[in-house]
Amino acid sequence: VGVDERGVIGFIEEQVQELYDWDNEDGDSVDGLTKGMRNVVVKNGWEVKDVEEAVVGGYDGSGWWFPGFVDTHTHASQLPNTGLFGTTTLLDWLETYTFPLESRFSSLSHARRVYSRAVTSTICHGTTTCAYYATIHPESTNLLADICMEKGQRAFVGKVCMDCKDTCPDYYREESAEASLESTKAVVQHIRSKDPKGELVQPIVTPRFAPSCTKASLAALGQLAEDESLPIQTHISENKGEIALVKQMFPECGSYAGVYDSFHLLTPRTVLAHAVHLHDAEVKLIQDRGSAVSHCPLSNTSLGSGICPVRKLLDHGVKVGLGTDVSGGGSCSLLTAAREASGVSRLLGNFEELKGASARDMERMKLSVAECLYLATKGGAECMGLEKKVGSFEVGMEWDAQLVRLESVPEDGDKDGEGEQANEGIVQCWGNESWEEKVAKWMYCGDDRNTRKVYVKGRLVHDRS
Ligand code: GUN
Ligand code: FE
Repeated sequence: VGVDERGVIGFIEEQVQELYDWDNEDGDSVDGLTKGMRNVVVKNGWEVKDVEEAVVGGYDGSGWWFPGFVDTHTHASQLPNTGLFGTTTLLDWLETYTFPLESRFSSLSHARRVYSRAVTSTICHGTTTCAYYATIHPESTNLLADICMEKGQRAFVGKVCMDCKDTCPDYYREESAEASLESTKAVVQHIRSKDPKGELVQPIVTPRFAPSCTKASLAALGQLAEDESLPIQTHISENKGEIALVKQMFPECGSYAGVYDSFHLLTPRTVLAHAVHLHDAEVKLIQDRGSAVSHCPLSNTSLGSGICPVRKLLDHGVKVGLGTDVSGGGSCSLLTAAREASGVSRLLGNFEELKGASARDMERMKLSVAECLYLATKGGAECMGLEKKVGSFEVGMEWDAQLVRLESVPEDGDKDGEGEQANEGIVQCWGNESWEEKVAKWMYCGDDRNTRKVYVKGRLVHDRS
């Protein structure tokens, strides 16, 4: 499965065809599943009824298994603010909406209420792996990790680091670089004590973004990530005001990407959110270091940040995944992020036209459905270093999957009252669509009602039926 047109969709079609062939060859069908298929299903610890529903039920052409989504960037703590940003852009949004909200997570009962809801919501939307920012509070960050483990979601959980007196408010700031480092270490230790091999949940070093951290803190976090082989997540080049601030605070570093590189924070395990306004030299530096970009299209639109040039990043060999970036983005759905990635990529051509791009280059900015869904799955898995385990269906990988279903409109019209289902507004499938068309309908018009079941590591974590 690559970034070309023979993408995720082609793969689904092959899978379905293989299962048809398998069923037909074996011939010895028991309740719709052949004995051979049953053995494979049982051996993998799956439930026979689920596979029957997907494979046999899929004969009506309205359902399929899809790799679980990988959300490479979101803030679990910001869930209560979804939809709230007024007319602000990044820096005043942080001050007006975000810091006051995040400061409330000193209360564990508040954290429990929000984090339980945040994790359940992403799971219901088919997100099987999620990279979360918590807040500066280590105890509630630990709680977020515990909730992911309890609910069975694969996750990266980061305690937010912010210790700069000039840019962080007194009511929401860590005491010092040392305090920030120590509480980061405490969270790493907590998560590792519960999941020593990081089979489900892993800690992730999380300097909020360059302007929120002192140089001492950035240096210490870079060292910690190196010493402990930890992944890193942060924000980069999202908004022009933010970029000007970084230039003023770190004049000696040459560029925004240069700041992170100076402190050894650009590694093959680093995920940089946004990357809207990078210069060519920064793109090259990020590629050289093997770091990844989390494209957060809905957030970039809501906060008026700009459009990330995804095609350019891919052309330069940078790993790219999708992020919902709640609450900069107003939806925790990666399906929505995929739809928005398609939308903004189609607009980008228009802007480039103004800058004198050729017709061919304008056309190439557009991301196909296959490419957007690739970013939402395998692309994200590559960003998080999980591409050998999840993000696609290949032999030996773990079973992180979602069962997707469109409404199947029956041939005989509305005789039996099935039309009532249409009131639910679920994407309709008339039986004559190709697999590509069904998947396109899902991406452009679907929502969590189409996500019937979700599995992580072979465990059923959500069931709408
Ligand atoms: N930059 C620094 N903090 C944040 C945040 O919480 N959200 C977004 N979108 N950008 C940021
Ligand atoms: Fe963010």
